[in-house]
Amino acid sequence: MQQFANADGLQFTASSPDSAARLTEFGSAYMGFRRDTGAILKSLRESDPDMPMAQCATGYLAKLFGSSNQSTKAKAISDGLPDLLARTGANDRERAHAAALAAWCDHDLEAATDLWEGIVLDHPQDSLALRLAHFTHFYSGDPRRMRDSMARILPLWSPEHRDYGFLLGMYAFGLEESGEYAKAEDYGRRAVERNSADAWSIHSVAHVLEMTERMEEGIQWVSGLEESWSGVNNFRFHLYWHRCLYHLERGEFETVLKLYDEQIVSDIDSNFYLDICNASSLLWRLEMFGIDVGNRWSRLLDVSRKHVEDTDLIFVSLHYLMALIAGGDAQAADRMITNIQQWSTLPGTQARVCAESGLALARGLKLARAGHHREALEIMGPVRYRLDRIGGSRAQRDVFHMILLDVTKASRDALRARGLFAERLGHKAHSSWSWKGYGDILETLGQDDQAREARARAAALLARN
Ligand SMILES: [Fe+2]
Repeated sequence: MQQFANADGLQFTASSPDSAARLTEFGSAYMGFRRDTGAILKSLRESDPDMPMAQCATGYLAKLFGSSNQSTKAKAISDGLPDLLARTGANDRERAHAAALAAWCDHDLEAATDLWEGIVLDHPQDSLALRLAHFTHFYSGDPRRMRDSMARILPLWSPEHRDYGFLLGMYAFGLEESGEYAKAEDYGRRAVERNSADAWSIHSVAHVLEMTERMEEGIQWVSGLEESWSGVNNFRFHLYWHRCLYHLERGEFETVLKLYDEQIVSDIDSNFYLDICNASSLLWRLEMFGIDVGNRWSRLLDVSRKHVEDTDLIFVSLHYLMALIAGGDAQAADRMITNIQQWSTLPGTQARVCAESGLALARGLKLARAGHHREALEIMGPVRYRLDRIGGSRAQRDVFHMILLDVTKASRDALRARGLFAERLGHKAHSSWSWKGYGDILETLGQDDQAREARARAAALLARN
């Protein structure tokens, strides 16, 4: 084992310079959601099994699946790393990566994130550390850290670097989640101009269009680039999900169901966490729009049952739970809620989030589905300003805010519901669902003229107008 530098000057402990180049290629593939990401790493592991970063990256990739069985695999790799590091004479950066993987396996996301941020301060070109910090800031519901993490590094990269566009797109996403929409859109579009297959950057702009309620433009943006992004891994289904959100507000439910069936759940058995997040969130939303989704929930049961014991990301677990509850597997749903309750008593970053809000959301989902609206409201209401910490994007978390409004409306607490819908319209003035719900509540309260006006606003936002 020797030290070999890659094209960016990063040192790798490896058996050949080619290994350093291929590990770098793996980082680029990962940022681009390329389908060959896993294969690159696998071949590197076969040709250079003792390369510390090949092992670390394998552990990282397993953790990125966000589920128990993959986490067990990551832990086994992590446990073998101290010996490997000593045996190969690994450098300090590689040792920090190994420590970050160990912290992640130990459920300490903050420690892992701090280690990656530390690596990047010393080695700004370490795009793997940069991207992983981006991911964990995201799944810690920490948009300002996500934004600033990229802002610190951007000036240190050459715009000529082939991966520079990925950084622009990551910065764009941090900006978007921090509410800086105009700037986010500018950075996101610049990234896509450089590389039209950069799915994460396309996605950053899709988020801006969602949050600024430019539904038609959103459909055009995502559809117009489909040829470019449809070649990426399962992340492509998340872009279809974004397209569905625009269609939903325009009342184009047939299109949503078609995209759901043909794309969003087309690879649900691959067990990739984002697929279930897309599926459960969309079905629950469709139902809140008054659409009968038929037996679609039942197709999500098999995969969801495999994740009852997960203790990785509460945001993801809640989506498996939604499928179990709505799909009618009460036993598995109850076991999962008990598991989340136990999880909330353990040490670790996500365990704390479970205690703060995740457990209340889990219980609230069950109550909401059972028609115990008032009880659901009582348990979900108090955590609404804390639920950002469950992670995921604003657009993704919005389903939980919608459920809160839905149960408040159904609980016949009309004054509270009127307040919540008015509040939502304060930042979603072009939401047909919100205007319709507001109209229903106003009618309940006998405010007939205002109710008619609200419903007219809702109707005017539908696509047929
Ligand atoms: Fe998204």
